[in-house]
Amino acid sequence: MKIRKIKGLTFDDVLLVPSRSSITSRNDVVTSTRLTRTINLNIPIISANMDTVTEEAMAKAMAENGGIGIIHRFMSIEHQTKQVRNVKRCQGFIVENPYEINQDASIDDAKRLMKKEKVGGLVVKDNQNKLVGIITSRDLLLAPGEFNEVKDVMTESRNLVVASPDITPEAARILLYKHRLEKLPVLDEDGNLKGLITAQDVVKPEMYPNATLDEKGRLCVGAAIGVTSGEMERARILIEAGVDVLVLDIAHGHADHCINMVKRLKSTFENIQVIAGNVATESGAFDLAEAGADAIKVGIGPGSICTTRIVTGYGVPQLTAIMDSVKGVQESKKNIPIIADGGVRFSGDMVKALAAGAETVMVGSLFAGTEEAPGSAVIRDGQKFKVVRGMASLGAAMGRKLTERGEDESAEDQEDWDKVIPEGVEAVVPYRGKVEEVLFQLVGGLRSGLSYGGGKTIREMQEKAEFIEITPAGYRESRPHDVDRV
Ligand code: XMP
Repeated sequence: MKIRKIKGLTFDDVLLVPSRSSITSRNDVVTSTRLTRTINLNIPIISANMDTVTEEAMAKAMAENGGIGIIHRFMSIEHQTKQVRNVKRCQGFIVENPYEINQDASIDDAKRLMKKEKVGGLVVKDNQNKLVGIITSRDLLLAPGEFNEVKDVMTESRNLVVASPDITPEAARILLYKHRLEKLPVLDEDGNLKGLITAQDVVKPEMYPNATLDEKGRLCVGAAIGVTSGEMERARILIEAGVDVLVLDIAHGHADHCINMVKRLKSTFENIQVIAGNVATESGAFDLAEAGADAIKVGIGPGSICTTRIVTGYGVPQLTAIMDSVKGVQESKKNIPIIADGGVRFSGDMVKALAAGAETVMVGSLFAGTEEAPGSAVIRDGQKFKVVRGMASLGAAMGRKLTERGEDESAEDQEDWDKVIPEGVEAVVPYRGKVEEVLFQLVGGLRSGLSYGGGKTIREMQEKAEFIEITPAGYRESRPHDVDRV
C-alpha cells in the first residue's frame, strides 16, 4: 500500500493563467486537432457512446459540424451497422446506394419505406433490376386516389433528367436548378444506376464547410464495441459498413482483455483506427499505446452520471488523469492523442482538458438534452427535459438484459434487478435545442480560451499553458456572485 503525496486535481481545482497574446480576433485561432493517429477533426469534440447521447442523428450532426459521434453498442450488430451506413450515405454529394423499390409495389409500401428510412425519394426498378423511374414524397402526396402502384405515380426513366458519375457538384446544382428538381439519378454509360444526387446533398458542403469527411467525401463516424470474443465479428461487420473508427467500450481499460483486444483488432484489420480506454494513469496509457491503440480515452469516474468512484472507491480526478496519461503516451514514444472523457460541463472545462494535454474531449450529458440525442423530450412544470443515463446505471443494465432476451419490460425478473450493481445513475437534463447550438458555444469558449493563452492552436496553448491551483474562495470568485441571477 502507498499513498501519493501529490493531490489529484480536477477542473474546478485550477484556472489557466493568462499569458501574452498576439491574437487580435477569436477568428484568428485554429481549433483543428487529431482524433486518432490518422483522423483529424476541425473541432476537438466527440459525442459519447451512450444510449441517451449518440445514435445516427447525433453522429451526423457531430460530423457535419467538424467533430465526430460514436454510436453506442447496446443494440444488435445489424442495427448498429445500419446506423453507421446511414451516416456514411449522407454527405458525399452522390448517395451511393439510394433506397429502391419495385415498380409493382404499392403506394403504401413506398410511403412506409420512405418514412422508415427518413428519405424523400426512392429509385424504382423493374424485375430485371433495371432503373425504370423515381418516386418522391411529392408524387405520393399529390397522387390521385385511384392509383395504387408505384409505377402509376413515378416519374418514368424516359422523362428523367440524369447525371453521369463524373458530374461536379456545381454542374449538379445547375441541372437541379434549371429543371427545378430535387433528385438527380446518376447513370453510367450503359444506363446502370450509380447513385442519386439530392438538392440537399449538393448544398451541404456550403452549409457545413468544417465537416469531418473521409477520402470519399462521406461523413466520418465511430462505433463502440466490447471486448468479448463475439465482438470481433461486430468489428468486422462495422468495418465493412465503412465505420472510420472503433472505440473499445470498457470501464477499466487497463486490463489484459482490453490490451489483447487492441492487439487482435490491429493485427486482423489493416486500416481501422482503434480508440482504447478508459484509463486514468501513466501505466494504463503506456500499456494501451504499446498494444497499438490509435488514441487513448481517459476518465475513470469523472462523468456526470458516474458513480464508479462512490461504488468502487477507484478513480483519479480528471485533470491529473489527463496529465498522467499524456506522460504515459510520451514514454511509449507512440505519438498518439489522448481523449479526455467525462466531466465537461462548460467550455472552460474543455479548454482546461486540452491545455492539460488532451487533443479532444468526449461529451455525454451536455449533449443528452439536444434534439439529436435519442429519446423524446418530456415536459415537467412547463419546462422541457430529456433523459440521460449512465451506461452502467440500473436502467441501462436492465434494458440490455431485456434486449438480449428479447423480452418486454413486463417479463422482467425481480431477481435480475437485485443482481445489478449499478455504477451510474439516470437523470433528466434541460432540453437544449440543436446540438449545433451547444457546439457553437463550446467552440466559441475555446476560441476565446486560445486567445487568453496566447496560442493560435491547441498545440501552442498546451506548450504555453500554466495552471494555478485555486482555493474555495477563488472558486467562488470564478462564478457569478453577489448578484441576483435573472
Ligand atoms: P459526461 O460528464 O460528459 O460523461 O456526461 C460522459 C462519460 O461518462 C462515462 N460513463 C459512465 N461512467 N458509469 C460510469 O462510471 C456509467 O454508468 C457511465 N455511463 C457513461 C463515459 O465514459 C462517458 O463518455
